[in-house]
Amino acid sequence: MEPCTLVIFGATGNLARIKLMPALFSLDTEGRLPPEMTVISFARGEKSREQWLDDIAGMLREKKPQGVEDSALQRFCARHHYQHGDLSDASAMQRLAHSLSAAGMPQNIIFYLAVPPAEFGATIENLSAAGLLEQSSGWRRVVIEKPFGYDLLSARMLQQSLLRHLAEDQIYRIDHYLGKATVQNILVFRFANLMLEPLWNRNYIDHVQITHSETQGIAGRAGYYESAGALRDMLQSHLMQLLALVAMEPPAMMDAESLRDEKVKVLKSIRPIAQSAVHAHAFRGQYGPGKIGGQMVPGYGEEPGVAENSVTETYAALKLYVDNWRWRGVPFYLRTGKRMAEAASAVTIRFKEPPHHLFRNTHLERMSPNWLLMGIQPAECLKLEIQVKVHGLEMRTRTISLDASYRSRGEKETDAYEELLLDVMTGDQSLFLRYDEVEWAWRVVDPVLMVWSMERDYISTYPAGSWGPRGTHRLFDREDQFWRHSLGLEGSDVAAESY
Ligand code: BG6
Repeated sequence: MEPCTLVIFGATGNLARIKLMPALFSLDTEGRLPPEMTVISFARGEKSREQWLDDIAGMLREKKPQGVEDSALQRFCARHHYQHGDLSDASAMQRLAHSLSAAGMPQNIIFYLAVPPAEFGATIENLSAAGLLEQSSGWRRVVIEKPFGYDLLSARMLQQSLLRHLAEDQIYRIDHYLGKATVQNILVFRFANLMLEPLWNRNYIDHVQITHSETQGIAGRAGYYESAGALRDMLQSHLMQLLALVAMEPPAMMDAESLRDEKVKVLKSIRPIAQSAVHAHAFRGQYGPGKIGGQMVPGYGEEPGVAENSVTETYAALKLYVDNWRWRGVPFYLRTGKRMAEAASAVTIRFKEPPHHLFRNTHLERMSPNWLLMGIQPAECLKLEIQVKVHGLEMRTRTISLDASYRSRGEKETDAYEELLLDVMTGDQSLFLRYDEVEWAWRVVDPVLMVWSMERDYISTYPAGSWGPRGTHRLFDREDQFWRHSLGLEGSDVAAESY
């Protein structure tokens, strides 16, 4: 791998502390970083290099309770420099340019924008004005966190402003869900196994559910979350990507462009939601006070920094249709929420019932359809629920689960950011969003955002620790559809609740 310099803007923020530094450290300890690689952390606060190295040690110890080896920490710290400054200050950029031109500094440079989305455009302008995006002495890559824009229009404007200074192949739009091994496994599961392909369509699948639930609240991020909400924060990005992976056609090759072409086709095929139909397709809610793990937690309205009477949604659910040959008529139900009963992400697929009810005149009270469950986190599993006969003289069935949990105990878990950071270094854009993916995802949610932004005086609430607001079942196409809350057996108490 070519040596490079990584510049992290917003290095003292949450993302760097919780994700970037621990990921870089793991890569370093595994010997995956080029020896010459250097990291310049750029942030507003004034501090010495020593103070910064102490901060880094603190971040790593916080994330790695099993301890951090001194020699590994020393090696890691030797890569780091700190520079304070304001991103909008031309002289700070000039100082950065000066540091980057120092002898021994690798001239391939990654700029990681771990800053609020509102600062993306101006940061790129300033980098360009300081001559830092010119690729005469080495490549320049820019990593941008989500959300890319605030809606369709602002995403277009942001894209135009980036393209004035960068080519598309220099822009790495991160969606960290694509870096999760279990998410990549959706592709392997679908395209490396022949068995499922004949079933993977409207003839056999009743509906698809994609759920991401969290027990944590907004974790002190009101400043960002108040203007984002669950639909922008999770659904437009991460869940829409999951949908694309579940629904896409096999790409001609596994290279970045072929893969992203197929995802875009899915996003383009999503039936637009008319503003008049938003209530039939979307549901929002906000957590009130409640119990998480036995402890009372405040409602969203009481979180520090949240505006009085805020109607920002912390729960969002959508029903979407993919109008193509494979999926026409199959609903995709997507939902996400903070302060929910459980922290879990999963894709659950319900198959249709057998066409002929052979067992009608037996003791079978109810035939349960097959479900395929793909646990993304914390359970990394694949389960297939099927019907078998119960032992005994009568014809009774029960559901059993073929459970193929595929990460064995002791196998190392890699964080999504480790993989994604390596990909930026090697220049592989497969797991990053191309602009058209972002644009089409905004097109899907824009009508919902528009309608919700006009409804300023009411939002449904749900107690923290529950499965979301009451009434979301109105999104379902049929009475017999229900949210699949856990990957436990269908029919068990925890698996289903008719919210
Ligand atoms: C982030 C969102 O992109 O994803 C957060 O901004 C959310 O609000 C997080 O908590 C969830 O990511 P993960 O990897 O913990 O499922």
